[in-house]
Amino acid sequence: MSIQPHGGTLIQKLSLGEDVSNISKEIELDGIALSDLELIAIGAYSPIEGFLTKEDYESVVENMKLSNGAVWSIPITLPISEDKASSLAVGDEVRLVANGVTYGTVKVADIFTPDKKKEALNVYRTEDLEHPGVKKMFDRGDVYVGGEIKLVSRPEKKFADYYLDPKESRAKFAELNWKTIVGFQTRNPVHRAHEYIQKTALETVDGLFLNPLVGETKSDDIPADIRMESYEVLLKNYYPEDRVHLAVFPAAMRYAGPREAIFHALVRKNYGCTHFIVGRDHAGVGDYYGTYDAQKIFNNFTADELGISPLFFEHSFYCTKCEAMASSKTCPHGKEDRVILSGTKVRAMLRNGELPPSTFSRKEVVEVLIKGMKQTVNS
Ligand code: ADX
Repeated sequence: MSIQPHGGTLIQKLSLGEDVSNISKEIELDGIALSDLELIAIGAYSPIEGFLTKEDYESVVENMKLSNGAVWSIPITLPISEDKASSLAVGDEVRLVANGVTYGTVKVADIFTPDKKKEALNVYRTEDLEHPGVKKMFDRGDVYVGGEIKLVSRPEKKFADYYLDPKESRAKFAELNWKTIVGFQTRNPVHRAHEYIQKTALETVDGLFLNPLVGETKSDDIPADIRMESYEVLLKNYYPEDRVHLAVFPAAMRYAGPREAIFHALVRKNYGCTHFIVGRDHAGVGDYYGTYDAQKIFNNFTADELGISPLFFEHSFYCTKCEAMASSKTCPHGKEDRVILSGTKVRAMLRNGELPPSTFSRKEVVEVLIKGMKQTVNS
């Protein structure tokens, strides 16, 4: 039997093709809200059925739980301007639109002004506008609309070959007869350290669900299309085909570190994973979070509340003395023997056409990245 979705039911809010043109009021969605709309509708955010109402929002910000008690760590909100808010009333059915296309509707249950400073401090642990998630949150509208949604049209599937709804990933795992599945979140190319922790986890479970996030990321992260190509060459050359499934996660990155790790785990449970990898500084940015804060936060919840088992990994690296990938848990040697490169350093190397060593990243991956970075610079 496959793992229960969070809250027990896989939410489905799809009403594709329904004609909602008779609804006059509309809200323009930004990229985050559009991806959230779709993710709610396909059940990736179960048990959430819409954008959070005030009660749920405050409960999530304050206690990392929905008002019904289910663990939930990231507020899923629909921000609008004060102007727009004055044209809406509770009970309205409103079309949700982006670039002239109607993607869905929301039944307005609540219109409220959030305490964004509190949201920043509780969710991101900082109100520093240098933090990309905090900046984004403050840039979005100052009033939130809560209410159940419906999706009437699917946003464009950018990587259609790698697009699975939770219902489909669950069916896929059943077809493959995988009982235990480890989910892996990433917004980066898969380097040797990622490969090491994935394969270490895979030694003890049936399958790996490689689930890169391809929604909005900050501008200096490597673009999703280049990353997808790098995953393809990596899987082709270094992973057994029948043990790994690659599918995209179309969410926006929040960079909320610990809180986002909980969110990432719960969503992967909805996709059918039984285990979820949390390594060093998961979903972190800059120095806002401690290296293992995203692991420690799991102590706030019981195994039953989470329903998915986190697999924690120490900071991993290639050790030139061990001549192997390792971590401080398994390698006795010093810093000078460890190949550790920051993301910033690697991006700078790639931009200059310099090759990161094969102890850091597989050569096939590096080739794709260099080619991709050149195209990005030239375009
Ligand atoms: S993110 O989405 O979590 O920001 P990233 O690609 O940086 O993406 O990391 C993916 C996963 O690999 C996270 O769980 C992260 O903690 C883990 N990770 C990344 N690099 C290392 C490393 N060198 N050692 C251990 N874990 C790592």
